[in-house]
Amino acid sequence: MINIENLTKKFEKITAVDNINLQIKEGEIFGLLGPNGAGKTTTLLMLTTLKPPTSGTATINNFDIIKQPDMVRKSIGIVFQDPSSDEILTGYENLKLHGWLYDMPDDLREQRIIEVLDLVDLTNRKDDLVKKYSGGMRRRLELARGLMHHPKVLFLDEPTLGLDPQSREYIWKYIEKLSKEKNITIILTTHYMDEADKLCDRLAIIDSGKIVVIGSPKKLKKDLGGDIIRIKAEKLNIDALKKLTYVKNITNCDGEFCLTVEDANLNLQEILGIIGKVDSVEIRTPTLDDVFLHYTGRGIRESSSEGGWAEKAMHMRSK
Ligand SMILES: Nc1ncnc2c1ncn2[C@@H]1O[C@H](COP(=O)(O)OP(=O)(O)O)[C@@H](O)[C@H]1O
Ligand SMILES: [Mg+2]
Repeated sequence: MINIENLTKKFEKITAVDNINLQIKEGEIFGLLGPNGAGKTTTLLMLTTLKPPTSGTATINNFDIIKQPDMVRKSIGIVFQDPSSDEILTGYENLKLHGWLYDMPDDLREQRIIEVLDLVDLTNRKDDLVKKYSGGMRRRLELARGLMHHPKVLFLDEPTLGLDPQSREYIWKYIEKLSKEKNITIILTTHYMDEADKLCDRLAIIDSGKIVVIGSPKKLKKDLGGDIIRIKAEKLNIDALKKLTYVKNITNCDGEFCLTVEDANLNLQEILGIIGKVDSVEIRTPTLDDVFLHYTGRGIRESSSEGGWAEKAMHMRSK
């Protein structure tokens, strides 16, 4: 459904998207997971024809984003990272406006409005002004709007950025429903590990504009192999630990040490013997955080250049 070839975007000083190659299958929920500034939004803007690539291209639904932008636009829906519905219109009016922009015949437009409002459970709030909506309701309205013209591919940029846990679960539920019932191919970006893990059939971890690894969440976790032992200690004799054949990797996790080992139960005692005094020890099977750490050498939070800035801005804007 989507074929991305050597896609690159350079701004004056930086390469925001650095030669990415990717194929996305029909019906997949595909995630671009990476910290703020990784190049996720820029990638989406190029795929949705809103920003021209510096080099490379992509096809969506067999249409080329550079040569056939109009056909691409007819095939896709998009929900932007920043709120883009009109606050001084009602939910219904926002959808009606979208129908006009897409030149939909009146009766089809009204029929689709009923359908999409029902899908995101906003039918009984459709005549309220959007400024009276909660952040989660507004997101749901924008999701509904992105679906009105029955796109084959839906792009969601940080669909649950800044939402409370309950609203996030709602949005996840709709995304899963869409994928199952309408067989829409969904590409979403996120910097939330739990979101990527829960929703995505496959994902690409993207860091500084480059794809570092692609796979299903399950496979990515499994490929790390074994268990993670997280140790809080003043210091670690890393050279001695690296000599142990079953220690596959040692990384810094938010100031503590994470060791990837073959079998924590079997290996722990010897490791503790080498380290000596420890403040705490935790054993677990790998999470996507560990996957991210493994491939980039840093946690997703510490690697975020803007450090939660987007979230703060989002909260300010919605007030
Ligand atoms: N219009 C622009 N001009 C200059 N730099 C930009 C522009 N848009 C994005 N960038 C930079 O490109 C990089 C990737 O940004 P973005 O795609 O928004 O990342 P993400 O969505 O992953 O947070 C960042 O360093 C950002 O500052
Ligand atoms: Mg972004």
